[in-house]
Amino acid sequence: MTNIDFAKLTELASSRLDIIVLHSQKGGPGKTTLSCNIAHELAERGNKTVLVDLDIAQPTIQHIFQIPDKKIKHTINDILLGDVKANEDVILETKNPNLFLIAAKENVEYGEGLLSLLEGIQQFSFFALHEMTKLLLRMGFRYVVYDCAPGYRMESVNAAAIADARLFVIRPSTFSFEGAKQMLTDIYKKLDIRSLNFFVFNQVPPDLKEDNQKLLNAWKDDLIKLYLPEKIAFLDFLPISFEIMELGINGEYIFPEKTVLYKKLSEIVTEITTKIDEMKEIKEE
Ligand SMILES: Nc1ncnc2c1ncn2[C@@H]1O[C@H](COP(=O)(O)OP(=O)(O)OP(=O)(O)O)[C@@H](O)[C@H]1O
Ligand SMILES: [Mg+2]
Repeated sequence: MTNIDFAKLTELASSRLDIIVLHSQKGGPGKTTLSCNIAHELAERGNKTVLVDLDIAQPTIQHIFQIPDKKIKHTINDILLGDVKANEDVILETKNPNLFLIAAKENVEYGEGLLSLLEGIQQFSFFALHEMTKLLLRMGFRYVVYDCAPGYRMESVNAAAIADARLFVIRPSTFSFEGAKQMLTDIYKKLDIRSLNFFVFNQVPPDLKEDNQKLLNAWKDDLIKLYLPEKIAFLDFLPISFEIMELGINGEYIFPEKTVLYKKLSEIVTEITTKIDEMKEIKEE
């Protein structure tokens, strides 16, 4: 069993859980980096937050938060497969008292093992994610942030389907932009039942040539037009940061408060949470 005082957690609980999902079509634009920082910022603002590693083929989050293997009793894999019912043992503590994690399983066998695992997860993940939402609500969490695998993996799409807000992360490159257009058309436009959609360009080089900046602005406008302006919002151009890369060498991924990235991230968190509040308040009226 974990040592987390769940009774206390529930006492402090709010009765609302907001689901934020980070996704991309291509790999590597910064979903994990941004998920960790968004979840960390939500927790710093006093919200009980849980960050879920939904990238089961390449788990990362337990390393970022330096969780030793022996502390991990159950993982998201067990829950998505239906092997374990969503339960409190899956929740891991971090050094931040408001921030909790759900890890993915390390050392999944490759080859057939991984393929059959993925197949099983495809079947169960929608139901399992609903069960998870119920558990997190019961436990008094205010926010859950899902860090998805890139592309059309079923559990990522299912997480997108249950999200209150989706944040689509794009690199400033033609293939990342083309991929984003494709995914917005294939999936996101079809999932627009109630969720909010946001997108952000990350890893933008400094001092872009004027023409390139113009092109990025045109891509931004194209994506908004593609989706419909009232259904998707552009958040920011986030700079590539050598400081963040250098911190990564030491295993640190949380943006230091003085950095431009932190300032921009903090504004993004405010924007997303405010928009979710507005959406839910309108619904309640
Ligand atoms: N704004 C940034 N400045 C500098 N480095 C960044 C920035 N954003 C992300 N990175 C770095 O880029 C790499 C990829 O980022 P990350 O792992 O967050 O992407 P991802 O979208 O989660 O990738 P995957 O699709 O493989 O899960 C990491 O090494 C990360 O430290
Ligand atoms: Mg990732």
